[in-house]
Formats: sequence, structure tokens, C-alpha cells
Amino acid sequence: MPIHVLPTSLVNKIAAGEVIERPASIVKELVENSLDAGATRIDIAVEDGGRRLITVTDDGCGMGQVDLALAFAPHATSKIADEDDLYDIATMGFRGEALASVAAVSHASIRSATRAAGGPAISGFEIRASGEQTEPVRPCAAPPGTTVTVRDLFFNTPARRKFLRSANTEFGHISEQLARLALPHPHVAFTLAHNGRPVTSLSAVESTAKRVGDLFGEEVAEGLLPIAARSGPVGINGLIAAPAAARSSARWQYFFLNGRYIRDRILSHALREAYRGLVDPSRFPAAFVFISLAGGDVDVNVHPTKIEVRFRDGQLVHGELLAALRETLNRSDLTPAASLAAPADQTPQDDEMEKRRSSLRQALADFFRSAAPRQGRLEFAPRGGPHARTGAADRDGSYVPEGIEAEQVAVIAPLTPPGLPRPAGTDGEQAALQPAPLHMPSLAQPPAAPPPPLAQAIQVHNAYIVATDDDGLLIIDQHALHERLIYNDLRRRLAAGHLTGQRMLIPTPLPVTPAEADVLTRFEDLLARLGIEVAPFGPESWAVQRFPSLLAQRGVEPAAFCRELLDKLAEDESADTERLLEELLEMLACKAAVKAGQPLTAEEMAALLARRAEAEKASACPHGRPTTIKLTLRELEKQFKRS
Ligand SMILES: Nc1ncnc2c1ncn2[C@@H]1O[C@H](COP(=O)(O)OP(=O)(O)O)[C@@H](O)[C@H]1O
Ligand SMILES: [Mg+2]
Repeated sequence: MPIHVLPTSLVNKIAAGEVIERPASIVKELVENSLDAGATRIDIAVEDGGRRLITVTDDGCGMGQVDLALAFAPHATSKIADEDDLYDIATMGFRGEALASVAAVSHASIRSATRAAGGPAISGFEIRASGEQTEPVRPCAAPPGTTVTVRDLFFNTPARRKFLRSANTEFGHISEQLARLALPHPHVAFTLAHNGRPVTSLSAVESTAKRVGDLFGEEVAEGLLPIAARSGPVGINGLIAAPAAARSSARWQYFFLNGRYIRDRILSHALREAYRGLVDPSRFPAAFVFISLAGGDVDVNVHPTKIEVRFRDGQLVHGELLAALRETLNRSDLTPAASLAAPADQTPQDDEMEKRRSSLRQALADFFRSAAPRQGRLEFAPRGGPHARTGAADRDGSYVPEGIEAEQVAVIAPLTPPGLPRPAGTDGEQAALQPAPLHMPSLAQPPAAPPPPLAQAIQVHNAYIVATDDDGLLIIDQHALHERLIYNDLRRRLAAGHLTGQRMLIPTPLPVTPAEADVLTRFEDLLARLGIEVAPFGPESWAVQRFPSLLAQRGVEPAAFCRELLDKLAEDESADTERLLEELLEMLACKAAVKAGQPLTAEEMAALLARRAEAEKASACPHGRPTTIKLTLRELEKQFKRS
């Protein structure tokens, strides 16, 4: 194949492709330029999600005639001069590529005036560029500062234009971009308008906390804890949520390096690590973390949009961040009232967990103590095999081990599961809306073989089931097991079609922003597969119209569930449907499963236990926690020094 040098216009389009993916990328580059120019106020106006028009106006230093003539030229910058500068970047930009890239794929113009130019009359200059064409600089009237206008993005690259999403989605990206730019610059005022309508207005404020509140609302900002540390080259500042305030979405986790938003695995890992054991792995604490490092300790020139960076000493940064986070979290643990007053969550908080654990230990100890002295040896399941039992079945079929009084074993379950309940979800539209007793929705396909007989089962502290199998003692987390079973079933059912939803008699209103409405429209098919329909309801609002039968029967609140779901969808733009579906199934299973704290009837326990073997194949709940802890007879014998 012959080799030839590509024409400049094509080279520029290729280069533009790296920097400009969508309208939000242009907003990012233009606002960064304004920040570099020392602006104290930046106004952004877009039309049609930025596809038709983007303008960014600032009150920064402006450009004179000579500089303006170079602004659209590729590799033209005022920010670095030689290679040494490259390793000590103090500005947002330095590659001199942004404006050239913008011009390569749109009709662009810049009007600018320097402060020195003074007077309001003909004091500024204007330059236009479009595709390969750049016009000469012309004088014009302009206030001090700069306005960049970008029209008809991708007008000359129709293939890329096709990749743009709806105006609402693109606007959503722009909003998110604004947050990333505005958070590290609270002292700069920002406005954002869409189709002539003001959407966001951020006045200059003193603190990041204030800016977080203005951007995300008091609900997110309230109760944030400050972090601060400085050690050697690493400076850390920021605000993090108390564990109890963790959310269902990682959307409010932001990391900044030297004032620039970045995504970084090392930093995310430190955050996860700091909260480990304090929040359920499926919850995400809000975090706004600002790291500062000397330019020499980080390379920002590894990604065209600089969203990824390379630390010279990643371990050091990780360690410092983790220490700073822990310091704050440990300190705030001293005020449990603050972290325990949170809205009820299905995940018990740490000390509640510890309480439950110690009462479980106590219950087990009592259990053994009450039986053992009189009996000498407690026969959970004799080594003779699963069917050999030493106790006698009493009149109602409950199994009473030898030596234990009847009233002591009131909770012991019958040996075989009673008639299996009707599977949830098959009753379709007519299904009742009030919570039903615990179903095993998974019983749509009853186990092929009759369940192996279980000697006995007891529920301890409404959270665990203690049972035996043929070679030991099982302690089962009722929520984790039920969740795993439901999850497996949901997967099976989804593979065969879609989940059953029931139409709501009275649709539940769901307040959504335009961007969220767009997300709902985009994921309509996915939601339908889960038995969920959220549709416009009246001129301004949306409502949940159809809701999975399984959840409705378990008394899950439709609006709250859909809100959480929406957070997840809005956060995930990757459109990796399969992965998303997986996450949503986990969420569904978790919500539908019995909770810790819920008393179970003997039948319910039996139904759960009957299918335990099947769950054991993957013996962790979808969140990665185990469902069962097993003590083998061997282990017990060792513990009791019988061997
Ligand atoms: N809003 C602005 N105010 C003042 N000068 C600007 C502005 N935008 C761009 N410039 C000038 O144009 C140059 C080129 O901008 P750009 O293509 O974004 O490259 P970079 O920001 O990497 O230098 C900048 O170095 C700066 O001197
Ligand atoms: Mg720039």
C-alpha cells in the first residue's frame, strides 16, 4: 500500500476528534481558557444542547490584535514556551490545540478586547474561522474580555454528528461539565442558559461547601465533613459525606488535581477503602476531594482532554488521601448521633451490626448451654447421615431434639417445606398492591429434586437462621440468601423474556429534570424488560405507571425505587446495557429480599432453606457478601476438644 502524507485539513479533523467528542467538550475547553485568562465571571449560553450554538463570555484579560490572529492556529499557545514548562504546568490549557480543533469542526468566532484597550467604542477585535478557512482579524466594538461563539458543531463531519445524542442529553453533559469546572473555582461566578432560558446561576462564593450546595442542593451539601492534610508535596482538601448519608449513586464523587477534574483509580480506591465497613458496598458517599501537587510530581500530558493523569508516586498520594479520609471519619465517629440519625437503610450501620453480632454470639451460647447440660451431647445431625435422627416429631410435626423442652423449641421449623407459595409475578395486572408475606419468587421453577431434609432451623434475632446439614451447623444471613435466590431467578426469567410489571391503579408522581426525563426515554426498553414504565403524566411531570410485581408485593415504594434507579442510569452514560441490567437486577433483588430484623415463619424459613443448595453454587450475595457460614462437625469437635 502506498504511503502518503495526509492533507492538513484531515490532520486537523483527526486531532479535533481527540479533543472534541461532544458540545460539552467545547464548553470545557472554552471555560478553561476563560479561567486561564483570570476571569471572575463566565457566562455560557447554548442552543439545542450545544449542537447549534455555544457561546462563552468572560471578563478575563482578553487578546489584542496580534494574539487574536494566532488564536485559531494549531499548536499556538501563550501558556508554555519550552520543554521545561511542560513539566510544571500551572494553567488549565497548554497544548494550543483547543481553538484550532473547535474551528476545524464548526463555524467559530472570537471577539476580544484587552483591558488596556479601555473605552467601549471600537476597542476590540474579531476573528472568524470555519473548517480550513480563517478570516483576517477585524476591529469591532467589544467590552474587555472575550466571547467565543461556536455554531453548527460537526457541520463538516456528518459521521461524527450522528453520534450526538438528544439535545437534553447533550445539555446534561454540559451541566455536568459546568459542575466539574465550577467546583474548584468557587470565587468565579458562572451562568448557564439553554435555548435562551437561564438554567444555572452560581454567584461567586467564599467556600467550596457553599458551591456544592448551590450546585447540588442542600440535601447533598448538608452534613459534609471537611478533610484537610498536607504532607511533603501532597496537599489534600475537601468535603466528604458521613457514612450514614451515602447515596445509591457515585455521581457525587469528584476528584480534582491542581484545580482540574480528573478520574483516577488510585484516588477512587483510597475513597472506597476509607469507607470500607462503614457503608454497604452498593452505596456511595458524596466526596469532593481536591489534591494539590507540585507540577513536577504529576504528568497531566497523558490524555488529550487531561482527564487522566500520571502520578510520579501514586502510592504516596494514595496513602496520604487514605490517611486524611480516615482521620476525618474516625473523628466524626465520636459523634454517633450525627451519623446514626440517617434515614433508615437496609444496611445496618456498623455498631448496630456489632450489636447484632454479639447478640448472635450470646444466642448461640445460650442455645448450646440450655441443651447441652441435660443432654450431654446435642445431636444436630448425627454422623449417621442426613436422614438419621435421634429426636421425635411431636404432634404438629415440629422436630424436638431429645432433651429439649417443647416450649424451648417453639421456633423450630417442620422438617419439610410446606406447599410452595405461588410465585410472585405470575399474577400480572391483577396482583394486589399490599405487601404480601414472604414469597420465594424464585419458585417459578420448583427445585427439580425434593429438597434434602433439614434437621431443624431456628431464627436468631430476626436476622439469621441457624440450621444443620449432614455434616455440620449452618448460620445463614436471611437477607443475603434470599437476595441471592431472587437474583438468580430474575436472571433466569430475564433470559426467557421480561419481568412482570403491574399497572399502577394510581400512577406515582416522579419529579424529574429535563435531563432525567431524557434518560428515562433513552432507557425505556431496558426498563420495560424489568417491568417498569415511567411516562409523562400531565404537562410538566412524570409518573411511575408500571412497577415490578415482585417489588410491589414486597411493599417497595415505587417513587423512591425509581428515584434510585434513575440516579444509577443518569450516572451511567456508557450504554453498556448488559452491565447496567446486571446492576439493576442486584438492586431489585436487594429491595425484594427479606430484611434483617424481619421475623420469619417456620414455613418461610423452610422455603428459604429448601433452596439453599442452589444458592450455594455461588455462595455470596450479589454484593459479594457470604450467605452462609458453616461450622463442620469436625470443627465443633475440635472446639469442644472431643477429637
Ligand atoms: N478566553 C480567552 N481569553 C484570553 N485569551 C485566550 C482565551 N481563549 C484563548 N486564549 C488565547 O488563545 C490561546 C490558544 O488557546 P487554546 O487553543 O485553548 O490553547 P491553550 O489553552 O492550550 O493555550 C491561549 O494560549 C490564550 O493565549
Ligand atoms: Mg485552552
